[in-house]
Amino acid sequence: MKKDKVIFFDTTLRDGEQSPGASLNLKEKILIADQLTILGVDVIEAGFPASSVGDFEAVKTISQKIKTSSIAGLCRSTEKDIKICWDAIKYAKKPRIHIFLATSDLHIEKKLQKTRFEILDMAAKAVKYAKNLCKDVEFSAEDAGRSDINYLCKVVETVIDAGASTVNIPDTVGYTIPVEFGNKISEIKKKVSNIDKAIISVHCHNDLGLAVANSLSAIENGARQVECTVNGIGERAGNASLEELAMALKVKQCYYNITHSIKTKELYNASKLVSRLTGILVQVNKAIVGANAFAHESGIHQDGILKARETYEIMCPTDVGMSESSLVLGKHSGRHAFFKKVKDLGYKLDTQASEKLFKKFKDLSDKKKSIFDEDIIALIEEDSTADNKIFTLEYLNVTSCAGISTATAKVSDKKNDKNKTFQKVTCETACGSGPIDALYKAIDKIVKMDIMLIEFSLRAVSSGEDALGEVFLKVKYKGNLYSGKGTSVDIIEAGAKAYIQALNKAKSFEIKKEK
Ligand code: KIV
Ligand code: ZN
Repeated sequence: MKKDKVIFFDTTLRDGEQSPGASLNLKEKILIADQLTILGVDVIEAGFPASSVGDFEAVKTISQKIKTSSIAGLCRSTEKDIKICWDAIKYAKKPRIHIFLATSDLHIEKKLQKTRFEILDMAAKAVKYAKNLCKDVEFSAEDAGRSDINYLCKVVETVIDAGASTVNIPDTVGYTIPVEFGNKISEIKKKVSNIDKAIISVHCHNDLGLAVANSLSAIENGARQVECTVNGIGERAGNASLEELAMALKVKQCYYNITHSIKTKELYNASKLVSRLTGILVQVNKAIVGANAFAHESGIHQDGILKARETYEIMCPTDVGMSESSLVLGKHSGRHAFFKKVKDLGYKLDTQASEKLFKKFKDLSDKKKSIFDEDIIALIEEDSTADNKIFTLEYLNVTSCAGISTATAKVSDKKNDKNKTFQKVTCETACGSGPIDALYKAIDKIVKMDIMLIEFSLRAVSSGEDALGEVFLKVKYKGNLYSGKGTSVDIIEAGAKAYIQALNKAKSFEIKKEK
């Protein structure tokens, strides 16, 4: 008998990006979309095109670039939103319009101030309008988890009649428990007369830590699409985690008897990439991709593992793409070993980028004895995610003594005037209560932007006293948040690089907006 398949709908770039402070720039979104296709995701929700010009551009670019997965764009149930969404996704090989409208009485009455009847009418009209533009239309009944089941069935039946080929049942506020949510799906299957004309999808939030359990319960009861995000990021406590769902279905294949197209060996790469670009760290005990997911501390467990791995492991680290031993590079490693490592880590670089990277690797190996995978990834991504470089740090000198620090920074500023580009180099000195404070004050004097530092974190990228330090920060400029990341064996330099990257993002966004 042919096995059923569960469609993986990834919303890292939409719901995931709604995680507080997780905004991504275009290059970062493209990197993630590329990794999602390598991962084998069936549908990528690339964004919410009507929500901002930036989102529209990102969805459009991803639609033009990605050839294998379907590309979905989210929209409210209005003609204006749907048209904007279509204009962004129409370039995709397989475009999908994803419309949402709330169906719980709470949302209908309090948020939308409408009646059930009006919502039914709006939903039908929106889906019909979308169907004229795109053959693949998904409808989401927002807050379905708290919607009256009979009314929800009526809405589902209506939107299928109007042309929806996927009906999504979101547990928007993560309120349901597995038995309850599974029953909801089973009721929909029983009560909706035309349900065989559409795929039932679920979209579970993790407010009670049950998003994955609820999604699995829905699959048992007939759902054939799961909406999820890498590392489970998303609004509030996040969404169902893609890696947990993919591995649960794989490890418990004997129970679910269901397939999916996720290449599980790419899960770890995807997790690291998303964590690095969003700045949302993965908790060490996170299932599947956490640093401790395969670490055995107890002597009894270690002994068992050495005798027979299955005693304490239900899956191999290599199943999810974690390497069992990582080959460490150093000062004496040649081009061959280095480029093999870059390839094994899943990166394809053109000749120019490869040469630049090799030089950076050599510089680093003069300062650092052992170069780990994490160091190489940090070097690659430092450059690949940099937006238009307007400001470049040319020089810095920081001294600290008894609670007073002084910093001197020299920054070049790329300016365009009458189609001519020129560099203006400025040097400033400032004092502060610590080295970073002094440094950022000196840079602020040069760039003359009203910047507020919102978040600052420092971590070691790899192990050892000479580990690369990585600074991740967020700044606020003219009401928007921008993130920046910098790595260096010198943590003050890492802090400077991160700040300059965030300033570049803020400035280039401002320039684009002005244009
Ligand atoms: O949580 C939710 O209800 C959503 C919908 C827009 C699908 O994200
Ligand atoms: Zn959601």
